[in-house]
Amino acid sequence: MRDYHRLSVAPMMAYTDRHFRYMMRLFTKRSLLYTEMVVGTTITYNLKSDFLDRVLGFDPIEHPIAIQLGGDDPKILAPAARVCEDYGYDEINLNVGCPSDRVQKGRFGACLMKEPERVAEVVAAMQAEVSIPVTVKHRLGVDDVDRYEDLCRFVEVVRQCGNHIFIVHARKAWLKGLSPAQNRNVPPLRYDLVYQLKRDYPDLGIIINGGIGTMDEVLDHLQHVDGAMIGRAAYHQPEQFARADQLIFGESATEPLGEDTLIEVMNRYTREQVALGTKLSFVAKHLVGLFKNRRNSRRWRQEISKLIQENPVTFDLAQIHRGVFRMEAP
Ligand SMILES: Cc1cc2nc3c(=O)[nH]c(=O)nc-3n(C[C@H](O)[C@H](O)[C@H](O)COP(=O)(O)O)c2cc1C
Repeated sequence: MRDYHRLSVAPMMAYTDRHFRYMMRLFTKRSLLYTEMVVGTTITYNLKSDFLDRVLGFDPIEHPIAIQLGGDDPKILAPAARVCEDYGYDEINLNVGCPSDRVQKGRFGACLMKEPERVAEVVAAMQAEVSIPVTVKHRLGVDDVDRYEDLCRFVEVVRQCGNHIFIVHARKAWLKGLSPAQNRNVPPLRYDLVYQLKRDYPDLGIIINGGIGTMDEVLDHLQHVDGAMIGRAAYHQPEQFARADQLIFGESATEPLGEDTLIEVMNRYTREQVALGTKLSFVAKHLVGLFKNRRNSRRWRQEISKLIQENPVTFDLAQIHRGVFRMEAP
């Protein structure tokens, strides 16, 4: 276990891209950030291309950062893991939790919960290639393979390959009949089973995920497990991570990040990215949800959405911010 495992921001396709991660780093220096899932073949079939730089590149500010890989073939994933280590990632995670049809067609993601031996083989092959940790993110179970004993069997088989860190989305998944979004909401959360797993395997690092909304909830979970991972609540309320370094990692009190500084830094970053050829919307979309609890937050959303739509060559986020919030009542 490393210190950063105490709190992480979950991998989320189309959300946890490098621009979002950059912004998250302004709130928390210590939490582990995850990439979106990258399919192993995307790396192995595109070695040494500019395309790969676009997929794997990240800003040094994003450390500690874990890349999540998807796949089930050790011959693809082992070299992919090596490439990721060379790019400077701190950790590699295997996706054994995604139930989407596309992922199931490739026979990976959550359906691998039914094949722990395969998971062990893949993780062992990756771990043999790299010196950074390889971890697994999985569900409590899938379909009718959903008894606690099945979960224990999964963990026991996978730990044989040397993986000691399990990130458990505390609900099962149904591979047929539920969409990925439903699979994140409909099967009930069973935190008790994740706590039980930690009690039964005290030497393993057990990280809990699913439905965690606040830093206070993280602190509660940390009474039972080694770490907590937050997905949707991190995206929808990133500001709450401003308390993370102090509350979760025990940093001494630091000056809270002011809104003006946040916007100034994001303005500079967005301009730099646009100058490099990044579409303005790719960065600005992550700003739409900021300041939710503030009066005028609706106007902020509208202004940023308008900016995205108009896609101007020059822009000033600080000016928009001042324009929206200076109207606030004293
Ligand atoms: C839009 C979206 C995309 C996601 N993409 C991934 C993914 O690429 N890999 C993965 O393991 N989980 C993915 N997840 C699941 C999250 O990592 C997390 O396990 C799930 O949302 C439960 O945590 P939460 O309740 O804190 O959001 C995604 C979730 C969302 C909402």
